[in-house]
Amino acid sequence: MEIWTIQKLLNWMTAYFTQKQLDSPRLSAELLLCHVLGLQRIELYTLHDRVVQQPQLGQLRELVKRAAEHEPIAYLVGRCEFYSLSLKITPDCLIPRPETELLVEKAVEFLRRRPAPRQALDLCTGCGCIAAALAKNCKDLQITAVDISEAALAVAAENIRRYNLEPSVRLLCGNLYEPLIEELDGPCFDLIVSNPPYVSDAEYEKLAPNVKNYEPKQALWGGPDGLDFYRRILEQAGRFLKPDGAVMLEIGYEQGPAVKQMLEQSGLFASVEIHKDLAQKDRIAIGRR
Ligand SMILES: C[S@@+](CC[C@H](N)C(=O)[O-])C[C@H]1O[C@@H](n2cnc3c(N)ncnc32)[C@H](O)[C@@H]1O
Repeated sequence: MEIWTIQKLLNWMTAYFTQKQLDSPRLSAELLLCHVLGLQRIELYTLHDRVVQQPQLGQLRELVKRAAEHEPIAYLVGRCEFYSLSLKITPDCLIPRPETELLVEKAVEFLRRRPAPRQALDLCTGCGCIAAALAKNCKDLQITAVDISEAALAVAAENIRRYNLEPSVRLLCGNLYEPLIEELDGPCFDLIVSNPPYVSDAEYEKLAPNVKNYEPKQALWGGPDGLDFYRRILEQAGRFLKPDGAVMLEIGYEQGPAVKQMLEQSGLFASVEIHKDLAQKDRIAIGRR
């Protein structure tokens, strides 16, 4: 019977995933091997000549097959890295993207300059990645995180618990501001932050199969022109935002001009900025009162 060492498996999986046109073949192979073998990535190299036994080979075989059909690696291993946190992920939530770390960076920068106690509202929290990263990186911050999906919120609750952030994060289920009570909650937020669904009808049809076939449509689709959530978030932001607060939104790379115009026309903000991501594409819209 053929002997499979870690190194041999890594090389074979990388070549197989390359042939199947996965985005990051080597990284995907490493993550699956780490998951099945219970190892850190570095250990794949320090233990490269370790022989992998049959039960683990069987498990790996199944996962390799699913990955080759473009099922996202984060769903297969049930975890992903975000802003130096290791978060639980299930197919009920969007897989956090590196671009969203830029939104967190801007939010942390803003919140740290505000006098304590500070409050933030994270609309469309999904797995709770933004709320967890803010709570972990800003002292004296209370965060309210809202999502319409109970299943996604259950994952968020686990992520918040894993990092002992329960005292800082309140999770609410509902449609945007609907679970808030204006008399109790507004206008108390220094910051409203959101990475809402922003894919338009036309873009949805063209999404890559690993996104379209696996990630929840509810987490992606932002109405016919992709801008519905920005309209709805801005419509009510004034009721919940402090008089000197800010709104920070992740946007699609073609949405900069439209969202900038919405922020300006809302009449809520003294300044409006669009920031680019590392690929020099419009990615974050900020309105400051
Ligand atoms: C683009 S995902 C963002 C998830 C996470 N914040 C992130 O950055 O990875 C959008 C999220 O919005 C939620 N959502 C969709 N419609 C909503 C609504 N009407 N009210 C609140 N949340 C909603 C989805 O369930 C999904 O979790």
